[in-house]
Amino acid sequence: MFVSSQERLKSDISAWLDRFGRDRTALMPVLQEIQKKYTHVSPYAMQIIADAVGIHPVEVQSVVSFYAFLDQSPKGRFVIRLCNTISCDMQGKAQVAQQLRNDLGIDFGQTTTDGKFSLDWAACLGMCDQGPALLVNDIIHTRVTAAMVHDILETCRKTFGVYALETKHEEGHA
Ligand code: FES
Repeated sequence: MFVSSQERLKSDISAWLDRFGRDRTALMPVLQEIQKKYTHVSPYAMQIIADAVGIHPVEVQSVVSFYAFLDQSPKGRFVIRLCNTISCDMQGKAQVAQQLRNDLGIDFGQTTTDGKFSLDWAACLGMCDQGPALLVNDIIHTRVTAAMVHDILETCRKTFGVYALETKHEEGHA
């Protein structure tokens, strides 16, 4: 039976609400699950959650826009966000940024053509004394150097097989 992407999203959200509860305390964990599986939180997803936990969709949207690791438009499987605020700037952010551009072949604000990586700037990540700081999805890396970029990306690439299996599994149930 054909299951539309909206029906699948609705069903996933319902399962996560069953797990985390149907009140506002479930908001963050459910948003994180949506981000992890769908690489962004769409307006439709925000509406479903808002209805389920009894809050206004604008409140859900304000949470999504507040947190750097939540996106409102589709992104790569791994979203790399480099802090673009002053302390990290003074601790070598520019070299890390250039290494990321070189290794991924994209600029900030772009996604690789295979959909695996997105590169974005982030405002202060709260690790100013340990900069430069970057996020890979919701995992933070501190004191990042240009030399560390290769290993960080390799760790991501090693997990692609896991995502490929998950996608295949999900398609099998569509
Ligand atoms: S300035 Fe980069 S983490 Fe605060």
